[in-house]
Amino acid sequence: MGGDQDGVAHVPAHRHRRARRVEHEPGAITCRAVEGAEVRADPRRRLRGQDGRDLLSWSGEPGRSGRGLLELVGEAHRPQNRGLVSGRAHQAKALFAPIGPTYDRVGSVLSLGQDPRWRRFLVSRIPADGGHVLDVATGTGLVARELLRRGFTVTGLDQSPQMLEQARGRFGGRVELVEGSAEALPFPDGSFDHLTFTYLLRYVDDPAAALHELTRVVRPRGTLAMLEFAVPSGGWRPLWELYVRVGLPTACRLISPGWHEVGRFLGPSIRGFYELYPLQQMLELWREAGIADVRARRLSLGGGVVVWGRRARGGRT
Ligand SMILES: C[S@@+](CC[C@H](N)C(=O)[O-])C[C@H]1O[C@@H](n2cnc3c(N)ncnc32)[C@H](O)[C@@H]1O
Repeated sequence: MGGDQDGVAHVPAHRHRRARRVEHEPGAITCRAVEGAEVRADPRRRLRGQDGRDLLSWSGEPGRSGRGLLELVGEAHRPQNRGLVSGRAHQAKALFAPIGPTYDRVGSVLSLGQDPRWRRFLVSRIPADGGHVLDVATGTGLVARELLRRGFTVTGLDQSPQMLEQARGRFGGRVELVEGSAEALPFPDGSFDHLTFTYLLRYVDDPAAALHELTRVVRPRGTLAMLEFAVPSGGWRPLWELYVRVGLPTACRLISPGWHEVGRFLGPSIRGFYELYPLQQMLELWREAGIADVRARRLSLGGGVVVWGRRARGGRT
């Protein structure tokens, strides 16, 4: 009982109401306000040279599995290919399998110390009602830990057994951990009061469908909140490019082969995904998934973004 090595208070996880898989889709589209000037950009605007294909091909060298991981990710997100490219889940599993034991330390350094703050902001979007939160793509449990700190009951889900193993070591039995896919959650409709997910949508075949699936398991009026990387604009963009093209891959290469793969993958993945789903478009996906009152905040000069909203009361129209 009491705290763990991370000083987290013990909150026993009660079992969720898992029983059957229901195919219902939630929610009327009732979204409203969006916070901040950053979301006013016209989502249809395309700048020359920013086509996802061009951006994804710059790094050239294919991954060890033959075709580059980042190439597959870019292809899968193109509208004409959605649902056609198989193996994305497999690719993400391969990427995360070797890095579980070092993820927390290295991730914090590589985000230049920013992402712990981002996770805290993410969790602060969830109403402090002590409810039951599903943390999807929980990985080693860094968001789940913050949720526990704030008195929620937490279930964490991830498709990577290696990442979950780290989470198990962190929490003992205090967080229920489920191995499964965000694209087919093993929970009935409305099982959770709220839901968080972090750095997930770049790894799924169809982000719109995944959002519907995430919304499905939240009760009406429950909050969903997402943390994702983003691309800074204006004068910060060249610095960001320098970091993801040179600094990140170089640093990762020095750490381990697994991190080397991550270092090559991350910049093109973030840039390509952001090109296909700029913030305004992402907010639209949320609305279409039946999420109301959708808001977003860019963090750390635009290097991160948190989006949140509430599941609409009456289900999707
Ligand atoms: C970058 S980690 C994020 C971990 C943690 N939430 C954090 O804040 O650092 C992304 C996680 O998403 C998981 N993941 C990727 N695709 C997934 C999917 N389709 N279903 C479930 N988990 C997935 C990976 O296994 C990995 O643990």
